[in-house]
Amino acid sequence: MATRASPFVNDAVKGKVALITGGGSGIGYEISVQLGMHGAFVAIMGRRKAVLESAVSELRGLGISAVGFEGDVRKREDARRVVESTFQHFGRIDVLVNAAAGNFLVSAEDLSPNGFKTVLDIDAVGTFTMCHEALKYLKKGGQGKSPSEGGGVILNISATLHYTASWYQIHVSAAKAAVDALTRNLALEWGTDYDIRVNGVAPGPIGDTTGMDKLVPKEINSKAREYMPLYKLGEKWDIAMAILFLVCDAGKYINGTTLVVDGGLWLSRPRH
Ligand code: HXC
Repeated sequence: MATRASPFVNDAVKGKVALITGGGSGIGYEISVQLGMHGAFVAIMGRRKAVLESAVSELRGLGISAVGFEGDVRKREDARRVVESTFQHFGRIDVLVNAAAGNFLVSAEDLSPNGFKTVLDIDAVGTFTMCHEALKYLKKGGQGKSPSEGGGVILNISATLHYTASWYQIHVSAAKAAVDALTRNLALEWGTDYDIRVNGVAPGPIGDTTGMDKLVPKEINSKAREYMPLYKLGEKWDIAMAILFLVCDAGKYINGTTLVVDGGLWLSRPRH
């Protein structure tokens, strides 16, 4: 799809260093593109070397200063190494986007406790681990910053599954509920102590993503349009624009919120 024109000025996040987990593909990659196109230096983290390399080369092709670091957010040593490598490479860290996620459709009855734990480990524990490792760089006057400089920004990718209940998504619902709790609690503690803003974005169904391919088989996709009046697919661009808004100065007074970007879908009810 052709890239949409951005409503933001192209230096909206100029000079900021952003680390994006899961930044090599899907929504994470589009966030990397848009932060980069608006002036940020971009580090992406992912488990798959080939995916990372190809993403970095595409980002550089767009004129973005980008680097990729292999790592699994479930491993604390990987989290620490990637955060430190980002700092070594760019000299500071201003923005952490936690976009890495794991998912599959399975009934609660068929889901093993280890399957449940695996998704909690990636989405919830992984998000906390990354935040924890990045704190010393993100905080007001943190490493690489002048003492008077303000704190950075954390963005957590969430979902709307857990606002109600979702078929075959008990693991992801639990994980994203935990992510939302992290967003609020870190916003309180680190907003107060370190001038760090912590927010989330909860995407609805976004076209052309692994999540949609894995979670919403085509027949369900077309059926949903019939009984959900607000059902329409979003674009990765929609999520990246929400992130950009929350990262740049337009969002400077926003802390501890999770912005739902789903076209209103989670409110949808059949007409009667
Ligand atoms: C049932 C499954 C399963 C499946 C794995 N498990 N896949 N159980 N159905 N399809 C269970 C395994 O049996 C095992 O438990 C445990 O989970 C760990 O499995 P592994 O294969 O060892 O894990 P790993 O190789 O680390 O893979 C992690 C993964 C994988 C989550 C399972 O799918 C992954 O990393 N995917 C990442 C890409 C992805 O899906 N991204 C899209 C996110 S979309 P046992 O008991 O057997 O040991 C998204 C949108 C959310 O997040 C919002 C939606 C609206």
